[in-house]
Amino acid sequence: MIKIWKTHQNKIILDNLDKDRLPLHVAIIMDGNGRWARQRGLPRTMGHRSGVEALRGIVRCASQIGIKYLTVYAFSTENWKRPQSEIGILMSLLKEYIRLELEELHRNDVKICVLGNIHQLPKDVGEEVIYACEKTKNNNGLVFNLALNYGGRAEIIQAFQGILHDISNNNLAREDLNEEVFAKYLDTADCPDPELVIRTSGEMRLSNFLLWQAAYSEIVVVEECWPDFNEESLLDTIRIYQNRERRFGGIKKVEE
Ligand code: FPP
Repeated sequence: MIKIWKTHQNKIILDNLDKDRLPLHVAIIMDGNGRWARQRGLPRTMGHRSGVEALRGIVRCASQIGIKYLTVYAFSTENWKRPQSEIGILMSLLKEYIRLELEELHRNDVKICVLGNIHQLPKDVGEEVIYACEKTKNNNGLVFNLALNYGGRAEIIQAFQGILHDISNNNLAREDLNEEVFAKYLDTADCPDPELVIRTSGEMRLSNFLLWQAAYSEIVVVEECWPDFNEESLLDTIRIYQNRERRFGGIKKVEE
């Protein structure tokens, strides 16, 4: 059943989609804003602006079709290497996005969360993000994880530090450390691993995204640049996911 998104009536057709086998958690590497702009003779800024538009549609669609967790890679720990002017634009787009979308997301029961170290973001941006998380923390709909100043390796090291701290304070016994316990120290402690990781613009890399959590994810790479990725594209990738066979290192049922 399609949930009604308050303030927006769009038609979503779930043809050929198995509603009982939707991924619980979809994670997206939103890549190709720059190339999208270049192909049109536009400044990179316009690519990022159009990327925000694409994000709006995808969040709404994910919520409407009943995806429970959506994680998007909005700013990586490596993105600080970009020119200061582009970093500034990405930060102001993020702030503007939250300003403009927060009410609608809140009304639609979306819970906004952050992965990554937001304390290194410009103060005003960090405050905006924290406010959005606080305001939506009791919502029960889509959990929308914004990966901001996020890197998988940094996250794993931070988890290690937490574990070492807890072991030295006798809050964790060394022999109790296992995969499940380790995962509780990650930024995604409250989320299941993504079943589906989508990357746009044809690049076949994880780029330091959810390194621990994506161990068994199905990865779908699409050729479209992120600003062209729309609701139909999301449904297409879910169809591809549903046609994959997930074995988690095992063998096919019929071969048993
Ligand atoms: C990759 O495109 C995208 C990013 C570095 C950031 C993702 C940002 C957005 C989708 C827009 C902003 C959204 C928010 C919420 C701030 P690229 O610049 O690496 O593209 P390229 O590889 O073609 O150069």
